[in-house]
Amino acid sequence: MTLLLFLKSLQRKAEKELKEAKELKQLDDIFQKYLGKKGELTAILRSLEKLPETKRAKVGKQANNLKNLVKQRIEVKAKKMRLVKEVAKKTDWIDVTIPGRKPLAGHLHPLTQIKSQAEEVFQSIGFSVVEGPEIENEWYNFDALNIPKDHPARDAWSTFWLKDSKLLLRTHTSPVQVRYMEKNNPPLRIIVPGRIFRHEATDASHEINFYQVEGLMIDKKVSAANFKAIIQEFFKRFFGKETKIRMRPSYFPFTEPSFEVDMSCLNCRGEGCPVCSQTGWLEMMGAGMVHPTVYKATGLNPKYWQGFAFGIGMDRLAMMKYKINDIRLFYGGDLRFLNQF
Ligand code: PHE
Repeated sequence: MTLLLFLKSLQRKAEKELKEAKELKQLDDIFQKYLGKKGELTAILRSLEKLPETKRAKVGKQANNLKNLVKQRIEVKAKKMRLVKEVAKKTDWIDVTIPGRKPLAGHLHPLTQIKSQAEEVFQSIGFSVVEGPEIENEWYNFDALNIPKDHPARDAWSTFWLKDSKLLLRTHTSPVQVRYMEKNNPPLRIIVPGRIFRHEATDASHEINFYQVEGLMIDKKVSAANFKAIIQEFFKRFFGKETKIRMRPSYFPFTEPSFEVDMSCLNCRGEGCPVCSQTGWLEMMGAGMVHPTVYKATGLNPKYWQGFAFGIGMDRLAMMKYKINDIRLFYGGDLRFLNQF
């Protein structure tokens, strides 16, 4: 084989190997194999001087071309490989300038949302928001509200008593009426949103703990007509539409006269559905004109003052607003339910 043909076959071999090389190390090996100290091409280049002059120019040119070609291919390919490596490395980095993933955040419970909405509406018609303790004594929860010991009306509020004490979990928010009247002189206009407790069996409309919004308005000439107007306005603003209400006579020891207030069911517009147990009406609150005994218990003179009190079932407000027919859903902690609000 002539040297020229040998160079050609060397070139084919080198090109094939270069094509197949996948690692920088392989490129290095190829360099050594052809152009290293003991490289095949190096050997030819060294032997050029021994060639007769006629051949030397031609073979020399070919050999140098091949040398340049191999060198150039290796360089180009190595550059590419280094770039790929660099990019791969970069994707492993932590880029601290990228905004972090948002941690899962909770949101307000539907009843908390309802509480703020109710507060807002009452504040917009001149009521202040007041709070009271969840652990009460008999005086505030019962006696001062004209429910003395052994009075049958106490049975209406099945009570959780605290062990070894005369304390109890308040069965309604009405004790805060008493606490507030003791410390403040009329005119009074307050609401008291809060948690209450009843020792009762639970079902779709009863829970052992739930929420009320107590209301109290006392001045020189506050009538049941004022009560009706204010409650109607409250419902209108709270539900965002005109709602029908009706007042039925009722009995509470701390009000006289007493009423129960129903609103027309928003779910079926009064036609009857599961939310309103087919009646078209939902009982929303107990209310009445503050009883003289309560004024006396708090040091106010019933001759000078008159007013009304009410206790709205906050859970019922929420059930009506969101069309929920089971109160227990609010307390079950099921995220599939809660995430809808
Ligand atoms: N406290 C009563 C209840 O829990 C509701 C009520 C409040 C009634 C104020 C009259 C006046 O049922």
